[in-house]
Amino acid sequence: MTLINAPRGTRDILPSESWKWAYIIKTASQTMQDFGFSEIHIPIFEHTELFSRGVGETTDIVEKEMYTFNDRGGRSITLRPEATAGVMRCALENNLCVQGASAKLWSWGPMFRHERPQKGRYRQFYQIDAECLGISNAMADVEVISLSLELFRRLGLRNLEVVINSVGCEKCRPVYRQKLVDYFSAHKDSLCETCLDRLSRNPLRILDCKKEQCGLVADGAPDIFDSLCDECREHFAQVRAGLERLGFSYRLDKRLVRGLDYYTKTAYEILSGDLGAQNAVAGGGRYDNLSSAIGGGKVPGVGFACGVDRIMLVMEEQGCSFGQVPKTRVYCAALDEESRASVQVLTHELRKAGISAECDTSGRGFKAQMKNAGACDFACIIGQSERENNSVAVKDMKAGVQENVPVNEAVNYLRDRL
Ligand code: HAM
Repeated sequence: MTLINAPRGTRDILPSESWKWAYIIKTASQTMQDFGFSEIHIPIFEHTELFSRGVGETTDIVEKEMYTFNDRGGRSITLRPEATAGVMRCALENNLCVQGASAKLWSWGPMFRHERPQKGRYRQFYQIDAECLGISNAMADVEVISLSLELFRRLGLRNLEVVINSVGCEKCRPVYRQKLVDYFSAHKDSLCETCLDRLSRNPLRILDCKKEQCGLVADGAPDIFDSLCDECREHFAQVRAGLERLGFSYRLDKRLVRGLDYYTKTAYEILSGDLGAQNAVAGGGRYDNLSSAIGGGKVPGVGFACGVDRIMLVMEEQGCSFGQVPKTRVYCAALDEESRASVQVLTHELRKAGISAECDTSGRGFKAQMKNAGACDFACIIGQSERENNSVAVKDMKAGVQENVPVNEAVNYLRDRL
């Protein structure tokens, strides 16, 4: 029989990588806490409607990329392609934002999109996600952008570029949309098949097309800044002023429209030059109408998500530190068969005292056990004479010195030295 492999676009995170992964999540957790964000966890699958209404019917995600299936009760279920719609649903369902209350929430976990796999793009990937709900002030946008940049600063990422834009709101976007339809209709001959289709369905997305010929046309498209209403214009000016006050540099990109339809006003991305084609390590923005699109009242929001897989790639590429490689501090070794039971008891006592300890459970000889002990700080050796004297030989593996210690004092002895 052939061996069953992991599905295309998924991958295993092995021990050689998982400790680095844990470092990224730990750093994110601390950063979120320092910014006053509370951790939540939401379901990995939701009703399909949450995404089709929340993310938008005409987005690539909803049209082509979702893992959607009917469950055994005949309900249409989708593996979450992103977290924002789920976090908003959670806040509405649990009344976290009633009567003007706000909520700052973060989460992390796997997301699922049926995209063409390539470097930095997977079908199951991991996001760290932060959402600030219930605040329409531009200061919240600045907080979120600043949070994402602080996380990357703590992780040691360099050479990042912040790109921002305003995509307007329900008042000014229809005007801009019409201007785009008029402009692109006059340049139909130069647009790719996909963009011709977008022309009637989602013309803003043409601005984002990566094909060269469409890019050239998009460069001459009407400028969104000329169409923004006073409120959006003022909001964007405040976001820019806030970023400048905090000393962040950014590039304005009027073609940044993002691939999710819920955005209003601010949209941003953080790009890395060390990633190749999939160069966004984070993306986010404001979404003041998402709540009503999924059946809630008026709850404004702003947030971001970053791809853990991509952060990992950049950190490896840039030689960033992942902190200490976790290791077991003490190895307990049996000199003879009769000592194995005492060794297991000692290992158990050390662990109960909070000292990481291991012993052999596969019946290997003393030499093989000591080879493993070589990776630890101390070895605790028990043989016949130690058993007879109720003692243990404690060897400092770095210094190479060994001392006999009464077995009931071993925990304190090691605690003092570790
Ligand atoms: P997004 O831009 O679709 O936004 O994804 C955010 C980040 O997730 C990307 O910048 C990238 O680092 C990572 N990512 C996305 N797709 C993949 C993939 N196939 N493989 C690996 N990494 C990927 C959102 O998801 C929004 N929910 C962000 C947001 C939060 N907006 C407001 N709040």
